[in-house]
Amino acid sequence: MSPIVKNQLPIVITTLALSCLSAQGAVNFEKQLLPILQKKCLDCHSATKVVDGKPKKPKGDLRLDAAWAMLKGAENGPSIVPSNLAKSYMHEVVNLPKDDDMFMPPKGDPMTAEEIKLLKEWIESGADFGGWTGNMEGAPADAVAAAAASAPKPVKPREHDLFYTELSKDLKPATEADINQAKAGGAQVSLLKVEKSRYSCLSKITSPN
Ligand code: HEC
Repeated sequence: MSPIVKNQLPIVITTLALSCLSAQGAVNFEKQLLPILQKKCLDCHSATKVVDGKPKKPKGDLRLDAAWAMLKGAENGPSIVPSNLAKSYMHEVVNLPKDDDMFMPPKGDPMTAEEIKLLKEWIESGADFGGWTGNMEGAPADAVAAAAASAPKPVKPREHDLFYTELSKDLKPATEADINQAKAGGAQVSLLKVEKSRYSCLSKITSPN
């Protein structure tokens, strides 16, 4: 490793360790929330479909099978208002007393406290759908245009990302034994690479000099 790269290493490691922490905090809509909605809400709140030869319309005229539809909401206003929990009716109805007429879902398993917390955190942090648009059938023209505009575009990689990619080439996760051995030898061991599964981080062993 060249001396320059070596000197820069501690800074890079600190930045990555921090980004690893913040990655753990963000709610991934498609992975974490959508499966809950599919299980507990979408039977009643999806686009009109034919069931047993009869059209089944979304209950309360509300669809939750698309990002635009959640933002639009129904009679009682938007179901989701990004960063505004109080105005997000969807959060209100799942928190009502169970005997309230508007408690959701009216049938089947209610959302658990943990699932409601996830919904809350997701709304408060800006309700990022992360590229998920859902069912665009029946979407108003402006929602179609917005979805097209937010489709992932190729982005120019940032300098430090390139540097980090270069640095992490051929890296293998260090085993516990490797790490312990390195620590015993006086090496500094820090997080270097965030793995795809957002909860685990790889380690790289860097010797102190
Ligand atoms: C068994 C069917 C059913 C399920 C499952 C269901 N809902 Fe509903 N939902 C309804 C009906 C019926 C209404 C209309 C109630 C009314 O207006 O009195 C409604 C209305 C709503 C409304 C109010 C719409 C408005 O603006 O008036 C929201 C928000 C809502 N549901 C969210 C949810 C969420 C979130 C889930 C899942 C946790 C869910 N619902 C699951 C049947 C269902």
